[in-house]
Amino acid sequence: MPIPVILDCDPGHDDAFTILLAAAHPAVELLAITTVAGNQTLEKTTLNARRVCSVAGISGVPIAAGRARPLHGPPRTAENIHGESGLDGPGFGSGEPAVPEDPRGALALVRDTLLAHPVPVTLVPTGPLTNIAVLLLAHPELTSRIDRIVLMGGSTDRGNTTPAAEFNILCDPEAADIVLRSGVPVTMFGLNATHQVRATPEVVDRIAALGTPLSGLCVDLLTYFASTYREVYGFDAPPLHDPLTVAHLIDPSLVSLVRAAVTVELTGTHTRGATVVDLHGVTGAPADVEVGMEVDTEGFWDLIVEAVRVLGGR
Ligand code: BDR
Ligand code: CA
Repeated sequence: MPIPVILDCDPGHDDAFTILLAAAHPAVELLAITTVAGNQTLEKTTLNARRVCSVAGISGVPIAAGRARPLHGPPRTAENIHGESGLDGPGFGSGEPAVPEDPRGALALVRDTLLAHPVPVTLVPTGPLTNIAVLLLAHPELTSRIDRIVLMGGSTDRGNTTPAAEFNILCDPEAADIVLRSGVPVTMFGLNATHQVRATPEVVDRIAALGTPLSGLCVDLLTYFASTYREVYGFDAPPLHDPLTVAHLIDPSLVSLVRAAVTVELTGTHTRGATVVDLHGVTGAPADVEVGMEVDTEGFWDLIVEAVRVLGGR
C-alpha cells in the first residue's frame, strides 16, 4: 500500500523537486498539494505549484492556496535564493498553467481529503508551518486522521536565515511551536541533514542526460539554485532540502534518525525561530521528535533522477 501524503509547500526550487518525487514514486500516493507563503508570496507559490504540475504532467492532484501570512508578524520571502518568481531559472511562459487552482482553499481541501481517505494520512510540510498550525487549531478532531508529520525545517546546529534560525521555522515560529507540541508524531529534517544532499555538477549531468523537456527544466532550476547558493552562502553546490522528507517515506533507511526533544525559540533577542534540539537528553524533556541525521546521498539522488526520468517519459 502506498503511503497517502498531503504536501504543503512554498515552491521554491527544492519544493518543486518534492512535488516531482511525491508524484512519481509508487510508494507514495500524493492526495493533494497545498501552498503557503514562504519562499515567495502565496500568489506566486501557488502559481509555481500549478506550473510544476503542469509541466510534469501531474494531473488529478488538487492544488489549493493556504495562508498568505504567518500567525504573527509580517511575512518574509527568500527572494535572494529563489528569485523574483520564487522559481527563477526556467522559462515557464506567461500563459496560465493547465493545472487549475482548487477554489476550496487549503484548509477545506485538507479537511475533505483527511475525512475522505480510509486510513490516516501523512502531512509533509516543506515551507513555513502556518497552514498546518491553522489546521490543528481549527480542526483538533482531525488529529486522529493524521498519521504523522514529516517536515523540512530547523536544524540541530545553526540557521541559514539568521545565525540561529532556519528559514521555514523563522517565517512562523509560533506555527512551528504549535505543530511540535500538537501530540502528532513529528519527523524533522533540518539543515544538519539537508546540507548533505548537494546538487553537484555530476548530479546535474545525470539529470541533463535524461534529455527530456522536464529534465531540461530541472537543470535550469538547479543551475539557478546553484548560482544563488554560491552567491549568498559560498556553497559549491546547492542543498536540495525539501525532497529529503519524501525520500525518507519512500526508503526509511536513507536517513538515520534519533529521538530528541525539540523546542522552538519564540522570544530570543538574537535567536527567535531557532530549533533547540536536545540531542543529549540534558533537559529531561520527552524525546518525542524524530530528527534526521546521516543521509545516504547516493540513494537520495538515485530517487530524484528516477523521478525526473519517470515523469519526463509521460
Ligand atoms: C528551506 O527554506 C526554503 O528556502 C527551502 O525551500 C527550504 O524549504 C530551507 O531552509
Ligand atoms: Ca520549501
